[in-house]
Amino acid sequence: MKAVVYERYGPPEVLQLQEVEKPTPKNNEVLIKTHATTVTSGDCRVRSLNVPVGFGFISRLAFGLLRPRHRILGLEMAGEIESIGNDASQFKVGDQVFALSDTAMGCYAEYKCMPEGGAVALKPHNLTWDEAAALSFGGTTALSFFRRGKLRSGEKVLVNGASGAVGTAAVQLARHFGADVTGVCSTANVDLVRSLGVSHVIDYTKEDFTQNGERYDLIVDTAGTAPYSRSKASLKEGGRLLMVLGGLPDMLQAPWVSMTSSKKVIAGPAFGRAEDLRFLAELAEAGEFKPVIDRHYPFEQIAEAHRYVDTGRKKGNVIITFEPEELIQA
Ligand SMILES: NC(=O)c1ccc[n+]([C@@H]2O[C@H](COP(=O)([O-])OP(=O)(O)OC[C@H]3O[C@@H](n4cnc5c(N)ncnc54)[C@H](OP(=O)(O)O)[C@@H]3O)[C@@H](O)[C@H]2O)c1
Repeated sequence: MKAVVYERYGPPEVLQLQEVEKPTPKNNEVLIKTHATTVTSGDCRVRSLNVPVGFGFISRLAFGLLRPRHRILGLEMAGEIESIGNDASQFKVGDQVFALSDTAMGCYAEYKCMPEGGAVALKPHNLTWDEAAALSFGGTTALSFFRRGKLRSGEKVLVNGASGAVGTAAVQLARHFGADVTGVCSTANVDLVRSLGVSHVIDYTKEDFTQNGERYDLIVDTAGTAPYSRSKASLKEGGRLLMVLGGLPDMLQAPWVSMTSSKKVIAGPAFGRAEDLRFLAELAEAGEFKPVIDRHYPFEQIAEAHRYVDTGRKKGNVIITFEPEELIQA
């Protein structure tokens, strides 16, 4: 099968299209034929090891000290079950699914094995393959942080970086949970963020939300520009900062903040669970959640897609297609 492989950390050019052995599902696994995958901020970080301050060595320990341990990137995908292992019974051949392989990666390939009890769920009928491929990374990250931050209906939530993959998911999910949502983005993304149903949009090139006197129950920082030192005055008593992106020194303040104030800083990695994928699929089917799609690139041009995502300016999700959608659906 064809896969995009990288042998060393570096710029997008390290990604090479190669012929590799097609995987065979173990007893508890399913083999999925990939129809679409995405280029996430996570893929670009693991490719380049351009990680937040303090995470360089930790990332090498996690992903390979001198060279990548997993040669195939790709965190999420959508596709069709091609075969199942001897003991697998939750899915059947032909099922249309989407999956999050998370740090195990491996979705930049024509076929991908996943444990059937892992983060795999049936694809919502009303989403295209492209939309389904982009359902899990931003969605599960936002869900994981909202769960840890104990988001409640009626709370005031500010999403800093509201136009990215995590931000667009966080805005939609916070609204679903009954929050009053403010989105922060650049001028170019004001209309997009407004279309997601926020009550207020703040254009950060014109207004600094930390200086406008408003206070929030939850601040979700996906841009890394609102650490506790900047955002504490914008948190109500009992408020929580969900630090999706932040450097290690800022994250290490979290216990001290909890001990010395009524506020909390919640940081660290998000984990995607199968039940979260099923929940996101239900919301998508009910029309409550839809991944925002920016650009599409064919599989062969994945390095170009990485170059674009490296700019940090994507809107929602960037999709990698394996075949034109009409051919897949025919
Ligand atoms: N903790 C975890 O487990 C976890 C999980 C997933 C992702 N992350 C991290 O979270 C970050 C966001 O991920 P993503 O996938 O959503 O990235 P993304 O899709 O690339 O989006 C980043 C967004 O940040 C916005 N931005 C840039 N500068 C900004 C500023 N000064 N103020 C407000 N917004 C600004 C950009 O919008 P404009 O063009 O409008 O500026 C862009 O839409 C990444 O760094 C990723 O590594 C962490």
